[in-house]
Amino acid sequence: MKTLCFLIITFSSLIFSSITQAASIYAGKVNAAAVCSQCHGVRAPSSESPFPSLAGRDEEYIKKALKQYQDKTRISEIMNNIAASLTDKDINNIANYYSRLKAE
Ligand code: HEC
Repeated sequence: MKTLCFLIITFSSLIFSSITQAASIYAGKVNAAAVCSQCHGVRAPSSESPFPSLAGRDEEYIKKALKQYQDKTRISEIMNNIAASLTDKDINNIANYYSRLKAE
């Protein structure tokens, strides 16, 4: 568990430092997927992954979850920070992208 926490913190700081460098790395679906997929997997995370898979999930569900992370009605240190950097357009693009991916 300690190792996992360490990995998550290292990962997040890497991601957040790249967020401050690029104004919007979420501009395109592909970029968003590249960022989100580092934790959520492109199609499915590895079986040991603690991160929920997003591929093939309901579009409205993904949007709702991201908005809840944004207004902090859903708490996750990682996702609250990530969602805070997303615009409504990013959320729509991402939800659309993942809902169309086939889960494996
Ligand atoms: C550093 C790792 C990490 C990254 C990068 C990441 N997430 Fe997450 N995400 C998590 C974790 C951990 C959870 C579970 C949090 C919880 O318990 O609510 C989660 C949960 C979610 C959920 C809720 C899933 C569910 O089953 O309810 C959505 C939607 C989501 N993330 C979308 C995204 C999107 C979109 C991106 C890219 C903009 C992203 N995440 C990037 C770690 C990450």
